[in-house]
Amino acid sequence: MIDLSTQYLGLKLKNPLVPSSSPLSKTLDSVLRLEDAGAAAVVLHSFYEEELIAEDAMAERFLIHADLNDGEATGFMPDNGNYESSIDRYLEHLRRVKARLSIPVIASLNGVTPSGWVDLGKEMELAGADALELNVYHVAADPSESGDDVEARYLALLAELKRVVSVPVVMKLPPFFSSLTHFVKRLEAGGADGVSLFNRFFQPDIDLENLEMVEQLHLSTPEEALLRIRWIAILRGQTPMTLAATGGVHGHEEALKLLLAGADVVHLASCLLEHGPAHLTRILRDMEAWMVEREYESVAQMKGSMCQSNLRDPSALARESYIRVLDSFTPRPGVWR
Ligand SMILES: Cc1cc2nc3c(=O)[nH]c(=O)nc-3n(C[C@H](O)[C@H](O)[C@H](O)COP(=O)(O)O)c2cc1C
Repeated sequence: MIDLSTQYLGLKLKNPLVPSSSPLSKTLDSVLRLEDAGAAAVVLHSFYEEELIAEDAMAERFLIHADLNDGEATGFMPDNGNYESSIDRYLEHLRRVKARLSIPVIASLNGVTPSGWVDLGKEMELAGADALELNVYHVAADPSESGDDVEARYLALLAELKRVVSVPVVMKLPPFFSSLTHFVKRLEAGGADGVSLFNRFFQPDIDLENLEMVEQLHLSTPEEALLRIRWIAILRGQTPMTLAATGGVHGHEEALKLLLAGADVVHLASCLLEHGPAHLTRILRDMEAWMVEREYESVAQMKGSMCQSNLRDPSALARESYIRVLDSFTPRPGVWR
């Protein structure tokens, strides 16, 4: 019997497969189905900073002005006592999920402004969250904001959150940092317990028919796992923090490669949205079969065994490999001659 357990943010998980933040965690029924399918923990969908801002505006409208005895206005205003904010709903959902699941539940905060909104993490902790994921989905396009300013934004949000919570905090990062390893070490010094690599940036497209920019969401492809494999393999030897891989895991192959590179957990979103919870069971079964065939006894034994510092040729992840690969490329026969 293979020991599939892993450590994630100080929590012992029965296996490394963790559904990441997505609409799948919005209903109790779907999280229960994910747990039944074998998920070792679950990350809830995010609570967005913007929801709080909208909330403040609503509260202003409904709570502060609701006692105005204006017949026309009070006609459509809810009763003060019945007013339930979106954070109340999020916390209530978290409490219900916690009450029914036996696996750890990670709540997710998503926003960009260091202005105290992450203090809500405390309420999530009190509602039972075993850990918190902080997703700073920031499109850094302002020419007056330097790379250091961007990093400072992440660090400030992390510091605000760590000030109020005692549960572990994992930072979900995009790949767009000029010196990722250095930045990850800054997050480690700032008290982060882990990093989740990488946030996918959804790309708008141009509609050539109507000449409009269109918002769209494409699910990931397995090729996207390659960027995660490289950076997890590089970082594994550099930081003791939890490393979570998110992006491009569609089958057991990507999951195994990420674990070999050094990931502590492998997140799943697109493949579960596409194929349903049974897909998680299949990935787990196929991972186990591969490990049996290779005579691995545990995930712990396999984890990080192919990280950069364990490679016979660490240049496979560096510039040297780029030059070798480009030099070995030959144009398609029959197309050029
Ligand atoms: C429909 C959808 C909704 C998502 N919602 C969130 C979210 O609320 N918060 C978050 O941090 N990530 C969110 N994500 C990102 C996923 O958690 C995950 O990091 C990303 O999709 C990459 O993993 P995948 O290749 O397995 O899809 C969402 C992804 C999808 C496809």
